[in-house]
Amino acid sequence: MTESPRTALPSLSALPGERLEIVSAWDADTPYQAWRPQILVPPTFRPATAPRTYAVVNQKGGAGKTTSAVELAAAWAADGYRVRVIDADHQEAALSAWLLPQYPDEGPRHSLRSVFFDECSLAEATYPTLFENLYVVPSSIDLQRVEYERPIGAEQALAAALADEAQQAGGPAWDVTVIDGAPSLGLVTVAALTASDEVIVPVKVGGLDMKGMASLHKTIRSVQRKTNPKLRVGSVLLTAWDKSDFARQLAAKVSEDYPEAAVIPIRRSIRASEAPIAEEPVRMYAPKSTAAGDYDQAARVILPGRAAA
Ligand SMILES: Nc1ncnc2c1ncn2[C@@H]1O[C@H](COP(=O)(O)OP(=O)(O)O)[C@@H](O)[C@H]1O
Ligand SMILES: [Mg+2]
Repeated sequence: MTESPRTALPSLSALPGERLEIVSAWDADTPYQAWRPQILVPPTFRPATAPRTYAVVNQKGGAGKTTSAVELAAAWAADGYRVRVIDADHQEAALSAWLLPQYPDEGPRHSLRSVFFDECSLAEATYPTLFENLYVVPSSIDLQRVEYERPIGAEQALAAALADEAQQAGGPAWDVTVIDGAPSLGLVTVAALTASDEVIVPVKVGGLDMKGMASLHKTIRSVQRKTNPKLRVGSVLLTAWDKSDFARQLAAKVSEDYPEAAVIPIRRSIRASEAPIAEEPVRMYAPKSTAAGDYDQAARVILPGRAAA
């Protein structure tokens, strides 16, 4: 295999721009003019420790799933964790086009589909990216075969693949696995939820769809009941956040729905939409942008860095 040089992801220790304040309750009485985006970490919130598997899920397209998966993964990789991102969206495979998998010169190119059909292990479908500590399991349109061919045990396939991998490695093979979900609540999404410790729900401010949030809630509950009792919703990210009364109502609504979750605004920034074209995480492409800084803070709340651990 040709070894491509790996770029170290920057740590944003010189905190860019204005940092968000962390509070344990919203103050609904703050007048609009004085109101700032804040991170809500309720007293019931439990921070996580590695190893940890996260599913980034919302069946609405454009919610910020792929951006959140890439930026959180990049923040943890910059902190020194060994991080793998799994692309579970066959419709766009946006993650695979953003974090280009570095395939070997020869031999088969595996993807997540091959894992579902028992054609390879999860380790064999994992490829380095151009960035240090950051690896990817790619996908393409053929992942949709899982939905209509329904291979045996598909709901458990990812959980089983992760368990096999840990067993073969003689311990957890990765500090963090982040699964970038599809815009549907189909079989692959259920498999992702079944394989995860924790759900991260990105919600785009302005694109909220109450019915959609209710069906997501229902799917999570039924996974908790039937296939994965340990699953919890640890955080909700309010993506492309702009100051508006609606943003504030949304924040209040999601903290009602998920009282134990951290609710974290990620401010709107044009840099977030440019970064995939540059094929770099936002923290690399625009380290001073609010989106890079906010995701950095989000990553530290959700899974504190090695230094803090
Ligand atoms: N904080 C942000 N500011 C501005 N644009 C954003 C932000 N987060 C995401 N976007 C843009 O919103 C669109 C949808 O985001 P994406 O992560 O692809 O969502 P999903 O994976 O849920 O479909 C993309 O064009 C992305 O660049
Ligand atoms: Mg996506």
